[in-house]
Amino acid sequence: MSKFELPDLPYAYDALEPHMSSRTLEFHHDKHHQAYVDNTNALLEKSDLKGQDLEDIVVKSHNKNQALFNNAAQHFNHTQFWRWMSPKGGGAIPGKLEKALTAKFKSLEDFKKTFKDTGVGQFGSGWVWLMWKGGGLDVISTPNGENPLVHGGRPLLGCDVWEHSYYLDYQNRRAAYLDAFLENLVDWEAVAAGFEKCG
Ligand code: FE2
Repeated sequence: MSKFELPDLPYAYDALEPHMSSRTLEFHHDKHHQAYVDNTNALLEKSDLKGQDLEDIVVKSHNKNQALFNNAAQHFNHTQFWRWMSPKGGGAIPGKLEKALTAKFKSLEDFKKTFKDTGVGQFGSGWVWLMWKGGGLDVISTPNGENPLVHGGRPLLGCDVWEHSYYLDYQNRRAAYLDAFLENLVDWEAVAAGFEKCG
């Protein structure tokens, strides 16, 4: 049978410095994400969802098998999260996505402020998302491992605001971490590629 595996980071551990340190990525990817993968595989042994696609497991375990949901959703979230960042992150947002963001949020600055404020406002562990839902863009935050899939949306960009994602580099300054994420780490080409598949 097939088991889920920890995907390699799409860049070197030190590739996102100084905005995200190699120490953070070593712990976050090798320890935290690995644990979500291992727990998902172990919990699937006792679940009739074994063998299904990861997205189906996430949606079907929600509110039914909390332990499996937590771990499978976090495996999904982190797999996307690594791909939404790049050593060449930040910079210009591709035109079509920029237009859609401007239409929804009035300006790119207002979009980034909304994303940042929503992430700062998430109490405790969780994520902040740009998602596609009902034919439009929206920004939401979710607690713990929850994500747009269980809210009828498609995640276009997510930022991990668990302390394990930023505490070594920013201590308690989540706002500074979100600024660095938006200005220096986001691979807007990857976000735009996801956006192209919607609508
Ligand atoms: Fe994380």
